[in-house]
Amino acid sequence: MERILITGGAGYIGTALTPMLLERGHHVTIYDNFMYGAEPLFGFCTHRNLKLVKADVRDGLELSKAVKDHDWILHLAAIVGYPACAADPRRAHSTNVDGTRNVLMAMSRGQRLVFASTGSTYGKVEGIATEETPIAPLTLYGQNKRDGEKLVRDSGLDHVTLRFATVFGPSPRLRLDLLVNDFVYQAIHNRQIILYEGHFRRTFLHSYDAAASYPFTMANFDKMKGQVFNVGDTSMNFTKREIAEHVRKYANFYLHEADVGHDLDQRDYEVDYSKLAGLGYKASFDLDTGIQQLVQIFSVFSTQDPLRNA
Ligand SMILES: NC(=O)c1ccc[n+]([C@@H]2O[C@H](COP(=O)([O-])OP(=O)(O)OC[C@H]3O[C@@H](n4cnc5c(N)ncnc54)[C@H](O)[C@@H]3O)[C@@H](O)[C@H]2O)c1
Repeated sequence: MERILITGGAGYIGTALTPMLLERGHHVTIYDNFMYGAEPLFGFCTHRNLKLVKADVRDGLELSKAVKDHDWILHLAAIVGYPACAADPRRAHSTNVDGTRNVLMAMSRGQRLVFASTGSTYGKVEGIATEETPIAPLTLYGQNKRDGEKLVRDSGLDHVTLRFATVFGPSPRLRLDLLVNDFVYQAIHNRQIILYEGHFRRTFLHSYDAAASYPFTMANFDKMKGQVFNVGDTSMNFTKREIAEHVRKYANFYLHEADVGHDLDQRDYEVDYSKLAGLGYKASFDLDTGIQQLVQIFSVFSTQDPLRNA
């Protein structure tokens, strides 16, 4: 039994991850400012090994109090995605960079850290991105995460950095701003998908596989310590047009191809996941399974609140 503190535990990945850790018998503290509410926790909030702390990662004092007595710090709290960061750049920097510094300062030797980073740190890449590819992020979000990675690397603490693919699929705290989730929602509720940069190659991972990478990392920590890992699955590299074609297997919609948008992160590359796969990590949900889960959920769920990160 480990004592685990998850910053951002009330988020999209965090609410899939927390029950997984509780089921394994761990004690979990969620440290979150609950900016998207606490409803996503209702399904597991009565668990006797769960503790909730409503506080901000920008508050170093609260963090120091909360972090001690934990074996593991899983640092997920962030302003996530470039639109949300661009909406309030100061909030993004103070949360994503200063907040990460606060987490590191609150930790002591012997505690172990897993830092959530992103493939958006790569920027524009020719060919296949490996962990050795120099990172050159193009947006504030990617730059914040690059800066966070450096703080973590220089901290001298035991750590692993995970660079996630774009996550998709259901979660107690749903996000509709993520590409696959957005396409399926549009297909079900608007009967059309608006597609730009359809030839761009992107890389995806199911929300429960993203969550499962944490217990995997904890179990393999000694082999992964001090390193960066791309987290995803080689079988999950698709163009945006291919994603729309997969959605069409399960929903009827009009595909409206238009020059109406631009991915500021310029994510148009394949990512190599062999480093993590070499340790035995494999995604258990493929794209079609995740799309079918989303089709089922969205056929009974609609919202005026876009659940977006902006
Ligand atoms: N979902 C993805 O596709 C994806 C891809 C790559 C990396 N990541 C990384 O994974 C992590 C989790 O992402 P997510 O998709 O669950 O995002 P999310 O926006 O759903 O969750 C972020 C959580 O952080 C909390 N938070 C934000 N600011 C805070 C603050 N100042 N103090 C305390 N809590 C705060 C929010 O309340 C929320 O619960 C992030 O670090 C993100 O950068 C996610």
